Amino acid sequence: MALHMGCWHTIAWLDDNPGVKTVLPVPILDSINNLEQYRHQFDTLVVAIGDPRVRLLWLKRGESMGFKIPVLQHPTATVSAYTDIAPGTVILAQAVIKVAVKVGLGNIIGSQAMIGHHCQLADGVYVGAQSVLTGGVQVGARAWIGLGVSVLQQRTIGADAVVGAGAVVLHTVWPKTVVVGVPAVKLRNVEPTLERCVLD
Ligand SMILES: CC(C)(COP(=O)(O)OP(=O)(O)OC[C@H]1O[C@@H](n2cnc3c(N)ncnc32)[C@H](O)[C@@H]1OP(=O)(O)O)[C@@H](O)C(=O)NCCC(=O)NCCS
Repeated sequence: MALHMGCWHTIAWLDDNPGVKTVLPVPILDSINNLEQYRHQFDTLVVAIGDPRVRLLWLKRGESMGFKIPVLQHPTATVSAYTDIAPGTVILAQAVIKVAVKVGLGNIIGSQAMIGHHCQLADGVYVGAQSVLTGGVQVGARAWIGLGVSVLQQRTIGADAVVGAGAVVLHTVWPKTVVVGVPAVKLRNVEPTLERCVLD
């Protein structure tokens, strides 16, 4: 995505996988734990980590080290000028973000997802490809919305909730619950991941 945007002179990764030297045409320089050493060589930080707590942690660390944290937007995405999108968010190909939407820190908006007018997404939210949030939907921090989900207008998805692929959300999704199906119903509670336990 950073390559697509074409606005940076040099792009490189920091990663923790010692066996890998490049990802796509981009070299891996070092471990992410050595981020601060690269502050004078690079002025901008993009965090490409799936776990939302880990992603938010590194975004906040990077910001405190003085890195610029951009919004990455694919050239084919359409974003209304009347939106408020926080740093560290990535908007993938052909996504549409409509008027008066508020998007928090470090969100990932998938390809061809549609975020309707007046939606509010807190920090660390993931919206899967081809999902549709209609008008005024509220999404809590670190919620994870799978592929091809539809959420009816004005509904709320709680913090750390998971919405399974293809679900149609007609009612409130409570925090830390997994819902699936049409209409979406509770499958189970969210189990904390190893990383989440460590960071908590
Ligand atoms: C919701 C989800 C996270 C649940 O995963 P899980 O806890 O491992 O669930 P399981 O595979 O053990 O399935 C448990 C039950 O829920 C059902 N189920 C799982 N996902 C479902 C879905 N999306 N829609 C309807 N039913 C689903 C299964 O059929 C199973 O039912 P059964 O017990 O009657 O056989 C996962 O199925 C899902 O939808 N992930 C989204 C994938 C995606 O969108 N990826 C895109 C980005 S990479």
